[in-house]
Amino acid sequence: MTVLVFDSGIGGLSVLREARVLMPDHRFVYVADDAGFPYGDWEEGALLERMVGLFERLVETHAPDMVIVACNTASTLILQPLRERFDFPIVGTVPAIKPAAERTASGQISVLATPATVQRDYTRSLISEFAAQVNVRLVGAPNLAAQAEKFMTTGEADRDIVAADIEECFVDRYGARTDVVVLACTHYPFLTNVFRRLAPWPVDWLNPAEAIARHARSRLPHIGEITNVEDSVYFTGGERSPAAQRLFSGFGLTTKPMV
Ligand code: DGL
Repeated sequence: MTVLVFDSGIGGLSVLREARVLMPDHRFVYVADDAGFPYGDWEEGALLERMVGLFERLVETHAPDMVIVACNTASTLILQPLRERFDFPIVGTVPAIKPAAERTASGQISVLATPATVQRDYTRSLISEFAAQVNVRLVGAPNLAAQAEKFMTTGEADRDIVAADIEECFVDRYGARTDVVVLACTHYPFLTNVFRRLAPWPVDWLNPAEAIARHARSRLPHIGEITNVEDSVYFTGGERSPAAQRLFSGFGLTTKPMV
């Protein structure tokens, strides 16, 4: 069976690596809409229109049995329209506010996401539904997705830029300090070690990738047999740099031309 994993760039790889471990019997097609990157800067209506058109083409070309929208900025906008259009499972990646609210001891959590995700009604309603009893700080980070792309392709991130983007996550209210930061953008788990070094105190950086993969596995039948399949990656932006190509091939994905 074919699972299509979608993101604006490298972020969905954080979900793909978990999904592959749990679902070795399926074929993965990764699509990076790098021509539209960063999604965090898009206005809602324009992004929705772009993604609906793109998904119609992708579904026609790849006939997936499941789609994992491995992007919070996309999921908080497009899950409903996709579920109305297609009848295979659509698995989303939305801010892990519920598990964070269950896990915090201090009652102080932060949600680190793209500027677009923190604005979404979807995100606000997750807070009122699941985190009404805790303090939630929403932090829209303008630069972290690009820093994660840079880090994964060159091994370097700009410490000052990263430090400035995470700074607001750390709240101390009369001694009740933030103890959980939700990584609400799939790019961010790749920067966790950088975050750890720059944090003013230790926190739990909550990465929901494994939970998403477990959920995805529960939505497809278990085949039980590992066939020799080739996993591939498609870029909407055409040619990628050699470093990016190496990154994706390191994840076992063969680059194919977009059709
Ligand atoms: N990986 C995406 C997410 O989870 C966003 C990155 C971007 O701004 O394109 O939100």
